[in-house]
Amino acid sequence: MFEADRYRPERGVIVVFGASGDLTQRKLVPALYNLADQGLLPEGTALVGYGRSPLTDEAFRERLRDGLDRHSRSRPARAAVWDGLARRCFYQQGAYDDPEAYGRLKARLEDLDEQFGTAGNRIFYLAVPPDVVAPILRGLSAAGLLERQRPCPDEEGCFLRVVFEKPFGRDLDSARRLDSVIDRLLDESQVFRMDHYLGKETVQNISVLRFANSIFEHIWNAASVRSVRVTVAEKLGMEGRGGYFDSTGILRDILQNHVLQLLTLMTMEPPASLAADAIRDEKVKVLRCLRAPRGKELVRSVIRGQYGRGAIDGAELPAYREEEGVAPDSDTETFVGLRAYIDNWRWAGVPFYLSAGKRLAETLTQVAIEFKEVPGVLFGAMEGVELKPNRLTLRIQPDEGVSLRFATKVPGLRLDLRDVEMDFPYGSAFPAASPEAYERLLLDVMGGNSALFARRDEVELAWQFATGILDGWQEQPPPDFPNYAPGTWGPISTEMFFAEHTRYADAPNPLKAGR
Ligand SMILES: NC(=O)c1ccc[n+]([C@@H]2O[C@H](COP(=O)([O-])OP(=O)(O)OC[C@H]3O[C@@H](n4cnc5c(N)ncnc54)[C@H](OP(=O)(O)O)[C@@H]3O)[C@@H](O)[C@H]2O)c1
Repeated sequence: MFEADRYRPERGVIVVFGASGDLTQRKLVPALYNLADQGLLPEGTALVGYGRSPLTDEAFRERLRDGLDRHSRSRPARAAVWDGLARRCFYQQGAYDDPEAYGRLKARLEDLDEQFGTAGNRIFYLAVPPDVVAPILRGLSAAGLLERQRPCPDEEGCFLRVVFEKPFGRDLDSARRLDSVIDRLLDESQVFRMDHYLGKETVQNISVLRFANSIFEHIWNAASVRSVRVTVAEKLGMEGRGGYFDSTGILRDILQNHVLQLLTLMTMEPPASLAADAIRDEKVKVLRCLRAPRGKELVRSVIRGQYGRGAIDGAELPAYREEEGVAPDSDTETFVGLRAYIDNWRWAGVPFYLSAGKRLAETLTQVAIEFKEVPGVLFGAMEGVELKPNRLTLRIQPDEGVSLRFATKVPGLRLDLRDVEMDFPYGSAFPAASPEAYERLLLDVMGGNSALFARRDEVELAWQFATGILDGWQEQPPPDFPNYAPGTWGPISTEMFFAEHTRYADAPNPLKAGR
C-alpha cells in the first residue's frame, strides 16, 4: 500500500498536544526514535510537545528518554541516534484555551522553521482527552495556525495535517459535532483519524492475503463461509485506566473501532486501487450494509458482561467495581459479544460474531473464518468419524500468523481421519522484527497517505452501529453484573450463543475458535 513516490515522507514540525501524557512516552517518541534508527525519519523533522504541565525542554527530553528506555522495541537506544533526535525535541507550556499561548507557539514554530528548514510544514497531533479537541482546533485557528488546504498532489507547497487519537467522539452525535467543527476548518485530506490497529503488520496482511493470492477470493462469500468470528480479548483489567474506562465501556473502547475495522477489511470488495479513498469507499459500503441488532433482536444477539472478583495464575484480582476510579455500582460493560449480519450480495445470511472483553482467559486478537461442511456422503457417513469444518484463522496478536484447519488421514492401514492445523507463524518465518503500528502510521502522516486512517463517513457509520446498541441498552434493565469470572471467556451464556451457528463449538473457549 506504500506508493513510495506519491507519499514520500517530508520533514516538518510535529506538535503533540498533551505531550506530558502516556501516549507520547509509550508510543509516539519510541516510534520516532525507531524511524530515525532505520534512517526513515526525514532529516530535520522536529517535535514540539505542548501541554499545561510546567516542563523545560531538558525535563521533557529526560521524560522522553525514560519512555524510550522502558517502551522502545529496540533497546538500549543508540546514543548517537537519540542525541540527534533529542536536539530536535522541544516543549511549549500552555493552556488549551489561552490565545496568548497559541501566539507563543506560532512564534516558536517559525523559529524552528528557520533552524531546521521545515518550511512551514506542520503536523498537529492531538493526544488529549476528547473534550479538549475542539478548544485546541479553535485556538489554532484563531492564531492563524490552521489553514484549509485542497488536495493538489502536483503543487509544491507546505503541508498542514491534523491527527486525531481515538476515541473520536463517544457516540454518533458527538462524532458528528466534532466532524462539523473539523469540516469548517480543514479539508478531509488533512485529517488523520487514528485507529492504531490499522498500522499493525498483521492487519495490513489481511488485504495481502485476500488480494495477492488467487485461492481465497472464490470461497470468500456466503456460498462457502458458515460463520466468521472477530475477537479482541485481553487478560488485563484496568491497569490504572479505570476512570477513563468507566465512562466508556468496551463497546465504545474496542468494538466500535478496532473490531469493526477488522470486520470491514475482512469483508470489503476488492478496491479499484490501493489509493486511500478507493479502500475507504469499500469499507464504507460494508458498514452501510451492517445490520445492527435492534429491539428483540438486541436481547437475542448481544451479550454484555462485567467481571467480578477472582484469580488468574494464582493472583487474586479485584472485581471491576473495585478497580481504582470505577464507581462501586457501575453498570459499565467490560465484555460484549454480538451477532451481526452484512446484508449484501456476498455475505447475506452469514453470522458475524464480534466480541471484545477484559480480564479474559487470554490476550489475543484474531479473525476466524469457519467454512461450510462437505456433504456427509463419503467420509462423513463413516462410523466414528466426525468431520469438522475447515477453518482459516488470522492471528493479529500476539503470536501473529495464519493457520488452516483441515482433515487428513491418520497414517496406518485403517481409514481414520483427524483434523490438523497448517500454521504460518510470522515471527519465525521473517526474522526481522516488525515495526510498531505507530512507526508506520507516523510515516504515513508525514507522507500524506491516509489509507490506514478512518474517513469521516466510516467513523460515523461505525458509531451509528454502536450507538444503536448503546441506545437499546439504555432501555433495558442492566444485566446481573458482575456475571463472569476473571480468566474465563466471558459470561456463561457466551458459549451457547456462539455454538448456535457454529456446529462444533470449541468449549470451553467459544471466542478463540482455532488452535
Ligand atoms: N496511552 C496509550 O497507549 C493510548 C493508546 C491508544 C490511544 N490513546 C489515546 O491517545 C490520547 C492520549 O493518550 P494518553 O494516554 O497520553 O492520555 P493522558 O495521559 O490521559 O493525557 C494526555 C495529556 O492530556 C492532558 N490532559 C489530560 N486530561 C486532561 C483534561 N481533562 N483536560 C485537559 N487536558 C488534559 C494532560 O497534559 P497537561 O496536563 O500537561 O495539559 C495529559 O498529560 C487519548 O485520547 C487516548 O485515548 C492512548
